[in-house]
Amino acid sequence: MAEQPLLIVSNRGPCRFTRGPDGEVTAQRGGGGLVTALSGLAAVRPVTWIASALSDEDAEMAARGPYRDGDLTVRMVVHDREEYDRYYNVFANPTLWFIHHYLWGLATEPSVDRNVRLAWDAGYVPVNQRFADAVVAELESAEGDLPPVMLQDYHLFVAPADIRERVPEAVIQHFSHIPWPMPDYWRVLPPEIRQTIHESMLACDVIGLHTARYVGNFLASVAQFTDARVDTEAATVHFRGRTVRVTSRPISVDPEEFDRLAASEAVLAEREALQAWRPEKVVLRVDRTDPSKNVVRGIQAFELFLSDHPEWEGRVTLLAKLDPSRQDIPEYTEYMGAIQRAARTVNDRFYTTDDWQAVDLRISDNFPEAIAGYAEYDVLLVNAIFDGMNLVAKEAPLVNDRDGVLILSENAGAHPELGEHALTVNPFDLQEQADAIHTALVMPEDERRNRIAGLRAQVREHDITRWVEALMDDLARARPEAVER
Ligand code: G6P
Repeated sequence: MAEQPLLIVSNRGPCRFTRGPDGEVTAQRGGGGLVTALSGLAAVRPVTWIASALSDEDAEMAARGPYRDGDLTVRMVVHDREEYDRYYNVFANPTLWFIHHYLWGLATEPSVDRNVRLAWDAGYVPVNQRFADAVVAELESAEGDLPPVMLQDYHLFVAPADIRERVPEAVIQHFSHIPWPMPDYWRVLPPEIRQTIHESMLACDVIGLHTARYVGNFLASVAQFTDARVDTEAATVHFRGRTVRVTSRPISVDPEEFDRLAASEAVLAEREALQAWRPEKVVLRVDRTDPSKNVVRGIQAFELFLSDHPEWEGRVTLLAKLDPSRQDIPEYTEYMGAIQRAARTVNDRFYTTDDWQAVDLRISDNFPEAIAGYAEYDVLLVNAIFDGMNLVAKEAPLVNDRDGVLILSENAGAHPELGEHALTVNPFDLQEQADAIHTALVMPEDERRNRIAGLRAQVREHDITRWVEALMDDLARARPEAVER
């Protein structure tokens, strides 16, 4: 029997359209871990992917109808510009993103003002309705069994209720790629908004999160903000006559893809450039310029390490490969400035020569350079404040050629799986991070080799295929007769 088709729904889709110099519009692969992880699904079964049109070219292509590439059909939802701006740049980011990653300094921010309420009423809610309209249209035109609906991430918290109301028999799964915060932190939002979000999530059949910690937080949240009955042991929620399962499904990567990438010409060329540049040791970080990634404290910790261990001056550089992110949002542009100021402060303090600089900040979207960095690091710094998973911690050891040591925040979703092979740090503790950098640099070779072998074995065994299978199993349990494996 043919594989059951799936309906994936996310804000950022699997491709984006760009216009070349010849005026032709062509499809490029979309970015981000979410897209990479789910794209693999389209290789094994028919997938219709509903996503936002994010550019004029996307909108132009959307007007021509769905885009097809083999078994993948992409249907782009074109939004009203202002509505989308309120949804993406005010409500989803920063309001929700900052709640999920505990980034608001509550003594002073946020103020839930007219702007935030408007972003909810005239941004987040209507954009979610547009997504629900597109899903319902797909379900209504489906032949045979309804395709399961797989909603992704915090952009789509209020679509489930709408879909459930209009297609009561739909099988709906929601997966959050970010942490689920503790219930009290949700109290930043007005009661009616947090209640609407939690009730809508309970319109799903299955809710997926990366770790047991997030599952616990989710169950505690719905217990506080809805009148659902929660069974913590079974991780189920009983709400309005239905049972919702909440599962912990840590996302992963495709190791073979990274084997291929590491051998590609683009990466090999970047590696050569890095080898010509590199000092004796390299401490690497690869991140989006997102406040949750804790880049500024990472730079400060590196400064502290250099001042504690002057013998390393001139021998080790912090290479920060940063992908500019969400630059229409003031909190993000300010953070970018803070990163640049922190790097400048360290570089002014330690004498820069023709061959050496303490911090090398490279702010660009250069994927081959990031993979080349993965091959070349001696220490990989992942010190996120909070992070849903952090795929860099899983990808980089697969490619690394120097038995590099992973320093990993205890608040990264990857920590429960990788922590035993890493040096664990509290992301707020500069001294601990500085000490970890030193420990990693002087670690005996056999210990480094054992640690990286442990990381690789864990990731190769718990790869993306396993994650996808776990999601399919969850769907199968939600409607056993319809979802074939
Ligand atoms: C995180 C989120 C994704 C998002 C990605 C990039 O990984 O979980 O949903 O797509 O960041 O962020 P952006 O705002 O550029 O889509």
